Amino acid sequence: MSAPIIGDLMLRREDAWAQREVADRARGMQVEVGWALDPAREGHGYATEAVRELLRYCFEELHVHRVIANCFAGNDASARLMERVGMRRETYAVREALHRSGRWLDSLVYAMLDDEWPPARPGRDQGQD
Ligand SMILES: CC(C)(COP(=O)(O)OP(=O)(O)OC[C@H]1O[C@@H](n2cnc3c(N)ncnc32)[C@H](O)[C@@H]1OP(=O)(O)O)[C@@H](O)C(=O)NCCC(=O)NCCS
Repeated sequence: MSAPIIGDLMLRREDAWAQREVADRARGMQVEVGWALDPAREGHGYATEAVRELLRYCFEELHVHRVIANCFAGNDASARLMERVGMRRETYAVREALHRSGRWLDSLVYAMLDDEWPPARPGRDQGQD
């Protein structure tokens, strides 16, 4: 019997911005990630676990320099998730993203750099070298 699908993850690899002389070193060095979870499965940490593994894959297997993720400014569950996995809030953009309602909404960009991975996990990593 196969396991039920309870959500999905998105990973889009892209070139980081660079000056022409060093453009080859920026190729494929940034990833945008995203996620959606079945609402019936929310509140158990499944998305957090999946996004941590996605970040691990980006940094430890793809060896990218930077991972970013976006959400609408009012999407508190996603913002909490990004902070829980150690991403930093970098940008608050005003009326940048079009909602399906037809309204332009504010959005947030979170990021993590390769030298910030793996982040310390409070209560788990304390006391360890
Ligand atoms: C964003 C989204 C995935 C968050 O779902 P979620 O259930 O809050 O996330 P998790 O599965 O990681 O669960 C974390 C919640 O469970 C709780 N939790 C319970 N047990 C947990 C555990 N063992 N580990 C971590 N969290 C746990 C956490 O406290 C947290 O709740 P809180 O945010 O109220 O404090 C979900 O709301 C969603 O799919 N939204 C629609 C899609 C979307 O907005 N995508 C963003 C654009 S990229």
